[in-house]
Amino acid sequence: MSQLPAAPVSVDLFRHVLARFASGVTVVTVASDGTRAGFTASSFTSGSLDPPLVLVCVARRLDALGLIERGGRFGVSILAAHQRDLGLRFAGLLPGVHDRFAGVDLVPGRDGSPWLAGCLAWMDCRVWRLHDGGDHVIVVGEVVEARLGEATEPLGYFDRHWQRLSRLEPPGAGPGHDGAGSLLRALSPRLVDGEFAYVEVETALPPGVVPVAVVREAEGACAIVPREAAERAGLAPDAGPFRQITLEVHSDLRAVGLTAAVSDALARAGIACNVVAGLRHDHLFVPAVDALRALGVLRALQDSALAASS
Ligand SMILES: Cc1cc2nc3c(=O)[nH]c(=O)nc-3n(C[C@H](O)[C@H](O)[C@H](O)COP(=O)(O)O)c2cc1C
Repeated sequence: MSQLPAAPVSVDLFRHVLARFASGVTVVTVASDGTRAGFTASSFTSGSLDPPLVLVCVARRLDALGLIERGGRFGVSILAAHQRDLGLRFAGLLPGVHDRFAGVDLVPGRDGSPWLAGCLAWMDCRVWRLHDGGDHVIVVGEVVEARLGEATEPLGYFDRHWQRLSRLEPPGAGPGHDGAGSLLRALSPRLVDGEFAYVEVETALPPGVVPVAVVREAEGACAIVPREAAERAGLAPDAGPFRQITLEVHSDLRAVGLTAAVSDALARAGIACNVVAGLRHDHLFVPAVDALRALGVLRALQDSALAASS
């Protein structure tokens, strides 16, 4: 039986489907013949490791393409979460901007391509091959210089929206993995009675002061001790008061991402925390004033992990 030819995919549907692919955002820059050009690109992707190749699809109508072809090189700046304006600017979406580079802080790459300051990372590339890509040209570049920036949180693009990607799951922490997923379901946070303080320990703690944890550092030891006992013994607290929250789980080295998930949830609620992993359980120390709120955040974290798995 002969098959019917496939119906062509409508441009509209094609655009919608592509918008469902989440990506990071880069700005590709080029300086050649005394001219600079740059454009926002999310088609950037890694290619080969050996030799180190990356590729980006460049619309044929962009001036930058001619410069890349003539100069044989280009730079890539990987945008950080706070750089949405640069993404808009280099996509030509900021009204009234004639020179995209005007007033933008730059870091010169070794090969002369201007890198945008404050990014996650940068690359300088020599053109390796150019391939026909319909109304785009697929530019494959050999990475000749690469550098990491100070920024750590990526800018994402999904469904035509700029997004923060801060809630990325750490590797191996997915459902069913013997890591953060199952541990988050078992959190069962419990508030321990009393308040705690951090104190410096000279040689030994005075009698009657039993620490929850002691950390020996090059400068001397520091202990987390019950606040009242510390006061009775005349120890001056260095920080506190804190409350202790004990979890029913333990972030040993197989539990990828538990500490990150817990401290991230608390950080998003504006609560500082210090995690101490014991042999059997993890213990959090949070400012006493935030303790009840922290308990609520952790219970909600456990609830959503349970809901996600049901
Ligand atoms: C998030 C985002 C990603 C983009 N990715 C690409 C890309 O990979 N390749 C490309 O040619 N244009 C891409 N563009 C569009 C170009 O940045 C834009 O067409 C160009 O900067 C316009 O330049 P012009 O005003 O000089 O024509 C993207 C735009 C946005 C907003």
